Amino acid sequence: MFDITGKKAIITGGAQGLGFSMVQAFYQAGVEVAVIDISDGIFEICDKLGADASKIHTVQADLLNIESLTKSFEEALSKLGGTVDILINSAGLIQRKPAFEFSIESWNRIMGLNVTSVFELSRLAAVEMMKQGSGKIINMGSILSVLGGFNAAAYSTSKGAILQLTKSLSNEWAEHGIQVNAIAPGYMLTTMNTDLMNDPVRSPQIEARIPAKRWGTPEDVAGVAMFLASPASDYVTGTLIPVDGGVLGR
Ligand SMILES: NC(=O)c1ccc[n+]([C@@H]2O[C@H](COP(=O)([O-])OP(=O)(O)OC[C@H]3O[C@@H](n4cnc5c(N)ncnc54)[C@H](O)[C@@H]3O)[C@@H](O)[C@H]2O)c1
Repeated sequence: MFDITGKKAIITGGAQGLGFSMVQAFYQAGVEVAVIDISDGIFEICDKLGADASKIHTVQADLLNIESLTKSFEEALSKLGGTVDILINSAGLIQRKPAFEFSIESWNRIMGLNVTSVFELSRLAAVEMMKQGSGKIINMGSILSVLGGFNAAAYSTSKGAILQLTKSLSNEWAEHGIQVNAIAPGYMLTTMNTDLMNDPVRSPQIEARIPAKRWGTPEDVAGVAMFLASPASDYVTGTLIPVDGGVLGR
């Protein structure tokens, strides 16, 4: 029921953080993975995992550029032998600033990566998944898909959009055997949160608000992603699963 051996996955943002942890977990579960990421860190993935290079493919691309996004998807698909069973949209950007200090360029970059690239990659993957009558699309939402957050207007707007996009695409594609779901990580120990973790005022406030009384780890997210990629979740679609140590329940 949880067996995903032999499946083929495209994971964006897999060079580090939550994306890397999912690349690691899927590789170890016998999945062939193509990683799309802008970072040079992509070229270290195989060594970091001690992985068989025929099972992890890398495509360096800027997903903010729609032409490069399309090419990267085609390259990833071709490296996977022309089929894709799982798409994980993990590449994402945040900028924490008061709304008045936010530039429109930053707003557009966050929307472009966190929303537009997810929409476009999901459409490209769904075309392939429809041919085989099955597929799993996993989007990275956030607790800020639901909460407003603070000094993060663009990010929380983009993650709210991910919740709606997940539901919309699920409504359209469920009958074709494609499940579209989102994960809502809470406060996770990745570089995205370095400034929060180092903030002597906010860091203890955050920890006090988490019922589990600890920050989440990338591995906490990988387990839920594996569930959403496996046959165990074949009747789960259009939903947002929090991985937040209880924050949204407070
Ligand atoms: N870390 C958290 O606490 C947290 C909480 C909630 C949601 N999330 C979401 O989970 C996802 C992963 O977060 P993370 O903490 O691993 O982030 P991260 O910053 O560690 O990793 C993001 C990855 O995206 C890649 N990327 C950035 N811009 C890109 C571009 N233009 N084209 C291609 N790749 C690009 C980066 O190179 C990096 O490898 C994001 O969507 C994020 O919003 C994270």
